[in-house]
Amino acid sequence: MADWLKNAIFYQIYPQSFMDSNKDGIGDFKGIIQKLDYIKDTGFNAIWLNPCFDSPFGDAGYDVRDYKKTAERYGSNEELKELFKQCHDRGIHILLDLVPGHTSVEHEWFKKSMQPQKNEFTDRYIWTDSVWEQPDGLNCIRGISDRDGSAAVNFFSMQPALNYGYAVPTKPYQQKPDAPAPTATREAIKDIMKFWLDMGCDGFRVDMAGSLVKCDPEYKETIKLWQDITGYLKTYYPDAAMVSEWGEPQYSLAGGFDMDFLLHFGPEGYTSLFRSEKPYFSKKGEGTPTKFSELYDVSYASAKKHGGLVCIPSGNHDMDRIARYRDFDELKCCFAFLLTMPGAPFIYYGDEIGMEYMEGLVSKEGGFGRTGSRTPMQWNSGKNSGFSDADSSMLYLPTSAAPDRPNVEAQLNDPDSLLNEVKKLIALRQANPALQSYGDFEFVYCRDNRYPLIYKRSSETQEILVCVNPSGKEADAVLSDEVRGKIIYSLGGSAVVNGKTVKMPPCSACCILMS
Ligand code: GLC
Ligand code: CA
Repeated sequence: MADWLKNAIFYQIYPQSFMDSNKDGIGDFKGIIQKLDYIKDTGFNAIWLNPCFDSPFGDAGYDVRDYKKTAERYGSNEELKELFKQCHDRGIHILLDLVPGHTSVEHEWFKKSMQPQKNEFTDRYIWTDSVWEQPDGLNCIRGISDRDGSAAVNFFSMQPALNYGYAVPTKPYQQKPDAPAPTATREAIKDIMKFWLDMGCDGFRVDMAGSLVKCDPEYKETIKLWQDITGYLKTYYPDAAMVSEWGEPQYSLAGGFDMDFLLHFGPEGYTSLFRSEKPYFSKKGEGTPTKFSELYDVSYASAKKHGGLVCIPSGNHDMDRIARYRDFDELKCCFAFLLTMPGAPFIYYGDEIGMEYMEGLVSKEGGFGRTGSRTPMQWNSGKNSGFSDADSSMLYLPTSAAPDRPNVEAQLNDPDSLLNEVKKLIALRQANPALQSYGDFEFVYCRDNRYPLIYKRSSETQEILVCVNPSGKEADAVLSDEVRGKIIYSLGGSAVVNGKTVKMPPCSACCILMS
């Protein structure tokens, strides 16, 4: 396990929308380098960078055309290497986004695979044996080449699935995971990882990690596949870290991933926190924490078992911004929770200033409903929010036109801003080992339809009680033990602790260092 994960706090950067250094309206590597001091000063010590590889951008770069070449619009391989170095100079680790499941239709491998003559790449994608036959349970591409067959796709119709085999092949076109072509695909992915690790990246976030082997309901073969890949990493790159987009830590961590996310798809425990019809984190106070706790108990137990981490993201490029339907007091409560939970926190760029989900945008590069969460970072109140000096008609996506749009500069100057609260919380976490990635966790007060939520974090040397009341009403809890200790953090007014009772003001949070 990479040692640096023990106090890692990740910042997710969507390269096209973060900072444009050369006035073409699109973010780039040099722009990110310009903003590394901001990232460091806020307290982040790790980055996950969304795909930055050569691509026709039908799915914002998740349709890779060349795994070993950066997209020109972001800069050259050399510039990415410089970004790695600049990160490391500041004590920041950086993960790239690995998309092993599918490529773009424009990838050389797929072009060769489309040829009717047999060649090295014929079986590197999943093809049925006739254009009239569709792959079971998967969408497909048909009739775009002279090859007689249908090619399975994973996501959009221009993202053909690479062949990692079928757990239990039942049709002639389905191969075993250890057949020559699936094995070659797997080795090719290792080779890509090696390429970027040698250049200086610190690991990968892995796209759709649970879906490589097909028809594998219990993930037996998928886990084996990942054990092979992560085993290779552990031997040759022991400090590299891997986080999966999977959402089921009991499987992903068994596969050797260091971390997995709780996600907006799959079990609804994560959604119930911030994004369901009645989210727990809302002043309305109509949510319940128990859907989350049920999922978390299982997830956390797997983390313990495997020595891995379960990460709760503030959001990402696929979901609504956490600020949608929320005011700043509510957002501060969300962050008090996110930054005091186990696992490495992942904060999506802009969430730390409460950037809004931008309503009504036309889809960009396969974003559709996700487009509103992908708009340019708001650095200041000036032209294009300080994101770019280009003419605003050239921007990748428009910036918010709201006169009171949140921005970094204004929030840095306002002691009560969300950004300063986030900084305070990060500093609190980094000063208290119990609050960090591997500190133990236990629900202390978590009841159906009730506020507050109380949990205990502990390390060898400390015990900290974290109390969060996201509702707009005062809330109290009677615990089974007397609460004694010192309040080391409070948000939204002071909690009153009296014997076993904790009484909390509306929209508030506190941390009590137990004695
Ligand atoms: C993941 C990515 C998403 C992408 C999809 C297909 O879910 O996060 O943005 O569209 O995979 O690669
Ligand atoms: Ca640019």
